[in-house]
Amino acid sequence: MQITVYGATGTFGHHLVAHLRSRGHSVIAAHRGIGVDTYNGEGITEAAEGSDVLVDCVNRMTNNRHKALDFFSRSSRSIAMAAAENPGAAMVCLSIAFRPEVTRSKLLGYYQGKELQERVYRRLVPSDQLLVFRSAQWFELAQSMTIAAGPLAFVPKMVVRALAADEAARMMAEAIDSGERGTVEVAGPEISDMPSIAAAILGAGAGTAGRDGAVRDARDSEVSDGVGRGRRRRVPTVIPVPIPGPMSRDGLIPDSPRLSGVTLDEWLRTR
Ligand SMILES: NC(=O)c1ccc[n+]([C@@H]2O[C@H](COP(=O)([O-])OP(=O)(O)OC[C@H]3O[C@@H](n4cnc5c(N)ncnc54)[C@H](OP(=O)(O)O)[C@@H]3O)[C@@H](O)[C@H]2O)c1
Repeated sequence: MQITVYGATGTFGHHLVAHLRSRGHSVIAAHRGIGVDTYNGEGITEAAEGSDVLVDCVNRMTNNRHKALDFFSRSSRSIAMAAAENPGAAMVCLSIAFRPEVTRSKLLGYYQGKELQERVYRRLVPSDQLLVFRSAQWFELAQSMTIAAGPLAFVPKMVVRALAADEAARMMAEAIDSGERGTVEVAGPEISDMPSIAAAILGAGAGTAGRDGAVRDARDSEVSDGVGRGRRRRVPTVIPVPIPGPMSRDGLIPDSPRLSGVTLDEWLRTR
């Protein structure tokens, strides 16, 4: 099949492209770098031409409700319009597994954007052509959520059933291959929380604090001592930050997801 992946360079998208290609599909890897902008509409239809499946895995990371609603509604609407110009093409929307109560919190504008994205696809794409693929949080998210301050790393105490982004992408590629439609939810083998995941990543030496406070791969952690030798930054101590509302309970835990068998420890060993 020919498959267009919007957001092909992202954390998820680059894994999906690799899985689809290894299954023998021809992939159009779309992103702004090649002139495809799902927000302003540029190049979307051209990237979709002749494709049997379109996948939306674009992202704008923001907790600002207005920005999240604006980005996800505009992007999904323009991709859905491109799908409509390819009669019979399947549409796959990558969303997040969350319970409805999560979107009621004013603090979580991002999830309101994702809810709207799902609604746009359900309204504009016929149900026999649509797969809404809802993934639980990824291990990688613990890295981007960590705010480091000297010897400390602050991580929100979200309860999650996380999995590796690569595993979510593998499961989506399988679902695309078998022509699935409707809603599929995927998650990891264990229920845990973000601070524990961040601590395991830091402890395994797979992530360290950058100057701007974000936690990065160990590759970025070497700092020069001025005489040509590198030294590792000190691994920060993780401080869980309590958060109000459903995300600290079961708001992000899907009811009966398809499970990845790859645990956090196994994922850390393969990085
Ligand atoms: N993080 C999690 O734990 C998690 C779990 C489940 C689901 N998800 C969902 O997975 C999706 C992908 O997340 P991610 O972390 O892989 O995203 P990401 O790493 O931030 O990558 C975003 C991708 O979107 C592209 N993009 C951004 N703005 C664009 C625009 N205006 N036009 C075209 N392409 C654009 C980026 O490419 P360029 O910048 O090159 O254009 C990049 O390829 C999101 O919708 C997110 O909600 C995330």
